[in-house]
Amino acid sequence: MIWTIFLLFQAVLLYFLLTHRSRSKNDPPLDKGVIPWLGHALEFGKDASKFLDRMKQKHGDIFTVRAAGRYVTVLLDPHSYDTVINDSESLDFTRYAQVLMERIFNLRLPHHQPANVSAIMKKHFTGVNLAALNSTMSRHLQASLKTEMPQNQKDWKEQGLFNLSYSLLFKAGYLSLFGGEQNNNSTDPSSIYEEYKKFDGLLTKMARGTLKPEEKRTAQSVRQRLWEFLAPAGLTQDSESSPWLHAYRTLLQEHGANEETQKKAVLMQLWATQGNVGPAAFWLLGYLLTNPEALTAVKKEFSGISPMETSETSLLDRPVNTPVFDSVLEETLRLTAAPFITREVVHEKTLHMADGQQYLLRKGDRVCLFPFNSPQMDPEIHHEPQKYKYDRFLNKDGSVKRDFYKGGRRLKYYTMPWGAGINGCVGKKFAINTIRQFVYMVLTNYDLELSDPNSQLPEVNANRYGFGMLQPERDLLVRYRPRNSH
Ligand code: HEM
Repeated sequence: MIWTIFLLFQAVLLYFLLTHRSRSKNDPPLDKGVIPWLGHALEFGKDASKFLDRMKQKHGDIFTVRAAGRYVTVLLDPHSYDTVINDSESLDFTRYAQVLMERIFNLRLPHHQPANVSAIMKKHFTGVNLAALNSTMSRHLQASLKTEMPQNQKDWKEQGLFNLSYSLLFKAGYLSLFGGEQNNNSTDPSSIYEEYKKFDGLLTKMARGTLKPEEKRTAQSVRQRLWEFLAPAGLTQDSESSPWLHAYRTLLQEHGANEETQKKAVLMQLWATQGNVGPAAFWLLGYLLTNPEALTAVKKEFSGISPMETSETSLLDRPVNTPVFDSVLEETLRLTAAPFITREVVHEKTLHMADGQQYLLRKGDRVCLFPFNSPQMDPEIHHEPQKYKYDRFLNKDGSVKRDFYKGGRRLKYYTMPWGAGINGCVGKKFAINTIRQFVYMVLTNYDLELSDPNSQLPEVNANRYGFGMLQPERDLLVRYRPRNSH
């Protein structure tokens, strides 16, 4: 009896310790949810966009929620985003990134110096080096396209657009950055893609720590195979991978990372560089195919660059002006890019909102921006935000539209698919060039259409909110044939 009372007392005490946090005067509204410790974790993970919308209706543009023992302050006012993005002193990027690194890639980097990694990335993915990389990518894209969508094929071929876009761009990207010449390399990019796809499918559960035992075993074995595939990538200067990867591996070695750790880090880079481009290209083509007016406008713009019939030329090797395509891409990403921008509060901070309110951010909490809900899907900023309007980012005279407003004030951030500030996407230009090149090659060399002219774009997989580009719940069947075959 005495033990029962003692255990009961311990349980009540533990519950109190785990759940006790009350809102003080300067704190943002606090919503702990009803489940002790877990708080809102389940609803948050199931469909973050819907959950954060519900919280916004209840509390406004800033609130703190409890999720799996952590307190996360969510900020949804784009006018106030810079106060978070520009403060790397009090709000740390790397701590949460390291948590994810460990959960997803089983990776712990010794003497991790993100600034050095970032500097190498910048050097190789911008400026003069970008031009060389674009050329390599263009070559691999053409080769992959010829293999996967042969020019001598006479009849229509049917395939899922998501798998087609993702696999093609993955293989070309892998060969450009990690592999080398197709067939000349011991590891076939198709085998890597097959394993990578399984890994990508389990990624959100790995990040949340919600894998079932069977999935855990699959994740472990898929990771193991990918590590082995990637082991030689970038090891030597004359290896067939890119100068960037070699520089990255050298840096890891200088920082004392052993071979095991290096392989894991290379897998992380494979995901960072390949995880978003394929899905983005899928949505872009999917929106074009379901919006004939947009497709015609893009084709017209492309035909002005070089005649449709003879378009083998690379778009990446020379500067081109494609405002219609740029607007199409911006609109696609507005609807389908949904990263969380998360920071850990390492020093207590007073957050000054644009409306003059001030809130205290507590040390040890996390701060999260979710630009997908605002600005991207905010009806005050974008009229009919659920609707795809290919020319949303074009002025009447055809120039780029940059004027968007909220609360009567012009916005700095009216869409944020690439993040922002010093931790924003380093690969942005490379990604844009690649997607444009891919879409150009497909639309100019092939007839591409929906298998069922009445089909709609699939719903998004709501589990993936927060992890960069969204993915569809199911694939979209399309058919294609080379333009010169009939
Ligand atoms: C459509 C394609 C892409 C999208 C939408 C995208 C989006 C993003 C976003 C939102 C972030 C910032 C995350 C944050 O602030 O926490 C990011 C970071 C990053 N991206 Fe991309 N990305 C894309 C393609 C690429 C490509 C092709 C590369 C490289 C070749 C790349 C390399 C990186 C790297 C290295 C970072 C981390 C920067 C850092 O840690 O400071 N991305 N990306």
